[in-house]
Amino acid sequence: MYVCICKGITDTQIREAVCGGASNLKKVRQQLGAMTQCGKCAMMTRDIVEQTLADK
Ligand code: FES
Repeated sequence: MYVCICKGITDTQIREAVCGGASNLKKVRQQLGAMTQCGKCAMMTRDIVEQTLADK
């Protein structure tokens, strides 16, 4: 499912980034470019990052 429409980023990409070492929201933003335009994806991105870190 698309989380960031502006950049075309999916929840799977966010999870993979976290598993690959992007250990917080800032690193996910830097790595994928999510939340760098309209910012509407910020809350959902944060939830996915937190959930993925909790499941690790
Ligand atoms: Fe992610 Fe716009 S939906 S920056």
